[in-house]
Amino acid sequence: MIENVFVETGTHNACFALLLQNEFRLMIPLLKGKSFAIDLGNNNTLLSDENRILLSQPSFISFDEERHSVKAVGEEAFNIFEKSHGLLKTIKPLQRGVIADYDSALMMISKMVDRVHKRNLFSGFNHIISGVPFYATEVERRALRDVLDQFNSKKRQLIVEPLAAAVGMGLNIREPNGKMVIDIGGGVTEIVIISLSGVAVFQSIKIAGDSFTTTIQDYFRRNYNLIIGWKTAEQIKIQVGAAEPHINNSASMIVKGKDILEGIPTTHEVSSSEVAFILDKSIKSIEESIVHTLEVCPPELAADIYVNGIHLTGGSALLRGLKERFQKNLELTVHLDAEPLLSVSKGIAQVLRESKKYQAVLID
Ligand SMILES: Nc1ncnc2c1ncn2[C@@H]1O[C@H](COP(=O)(O)OP(=O)(O)OP(=O)(O)O)[C@@H](O)[C@H]1O
Ligand SMILES: [Mg+2]
Repeated sequence: MIENVFVETGTHNACFALLLQNEFRLMIPLLKGKSFAIDLGNNNTLLSDENRILLSQPSFISFDEERHSVKAVGEEAFNIFEKSHGLLKTIKPLQRGVIADYDSALMMISKMVDRVHKRNLFSGFNHIISGVPFYATEVERRALRDVLDQFNSKKRQLIVEPLAAAVGMGLNIREPNGKMVIDIGGGVTEIVIISLSGVAVFQSIKIAGDSFTTTIQDYFRRNYNLIIGWKTAEQIKIQVGAAEPHINNSASMIVKGKDILEGIPTTHEVSSSEVAFILDKSIKSIEESIVHTLEVCPPELAADIYVNGIHLTGGSALLRGLKERFQKNLELTVHLDAEPLLSVSKGIAQVLRESKKYQAVLID
């Protein structure tokens, strides 16, 4: 596994150097220790130090055919995704918010860390904190810990992402006052009720940004015999997507794809209200999960949420009209985070900065 951390072209010499490097690390105290926080998201990976976000990149990596060398990481890999030839393999190492391809995840993170921290033979870190979905199993958490342990840090801890998001949104998670946080990311939607630095009630569903996108792809194939790429479906969602048909009803977009029957490139115009129709079922499922979470919530916490409202974050919370739809259907005030793509990362950075204060939320 270690070979994958630093070696871009897997030569024997490089592997040998790595083995030596690891041996040395055991014997020589770290010369310089920095700390970093990582939000390893299904779609976006963010790295920060105690004070600021240092990097934000799509969670993608491209290898050559044999997976011997890395060809691109992050934005660059995302740009060639679905557009390359058979000799390049572009991988999204996370699925549904957790590591699905260990080696690719390790290599991707390693390359991203290299961009923001100059590392040499003896460098290491003081403290690394990573977000992890609340629903992640112990096996999935162990895979994440194993990846992080390759970075030679004196201390390595995890924090569940909804708690980090709450901190990032500026909520006081330590008081005995129920707060509902909904993080609609790329791979997963997590709904939690937080009180006294802990998660009192929790629901997770695998309906989030990626499933919105694949639902759009499926719809075009079924209804118009049109095959569209994942990136085109993402573009439709972001440019003209909406949670309700009337929100953006004058907007439309020309979609380019391939006709299944004729096998030739073709176009189709889609309106915002049609995209709202396509996404309606998925959004209903999220609403049902929110209602269920409220139903099983202890009455005192439910009373707090009635006063505090709901805090909405995660990139998919940016879907036009989603906040208004939730507000109307749930009859609760909905606060949409000002920077929903950054809340988890900002929260982990704050926890890294004040790790003593947030001891209760950190998991070894
Ligand atoms: N304006 C927008 N409208 C709708 N969706 C959007 C918009 N901007 C970003 N998204 C979606 O947000 C998702 C990414 O959000 P985010 O970065 O919070 O997810 P993540 O942290 O990578 O995933 P997860 O939390 O599931 O691990 C993608 O599915 C993307 O398409
Ligand atoms: Mg996330």
